[in-house]
Amino acid sequence: MPVQLTLCRRCTRTRPEFRRTLAQLTSNYPHDLAVEELECMAACDDVPAIMIETDYYPRVPPCELIRLVEARLTAEQV
Ligand code: FES
Repeated sequence: MPVQLTLCRRCTRTRPEFRRTLAQLTSNYPHDLAVEELECMAACDDVPAIMIETDYYPRVPPCELIRLVEARLTAEQV
């Protein structure tokens, strides 16, 4: 079962480094990561915010996005 990553398309589209990192993650984990992009995830004060499954993470820089996603993927494989 893929790990669900949810983010706001509107808030991240003006962040090219974040978008590149997201593209890299989806390329690296095509079967393990399911990305859902919402038009607003009601986190406009915490941009860019993400959810991994039901866990909420505010103000996530690209390097932290990689770390959080890979940590969850590793935990899911145990
Ligand atoms: S418009 Fe992006 S979280 Fe609200």
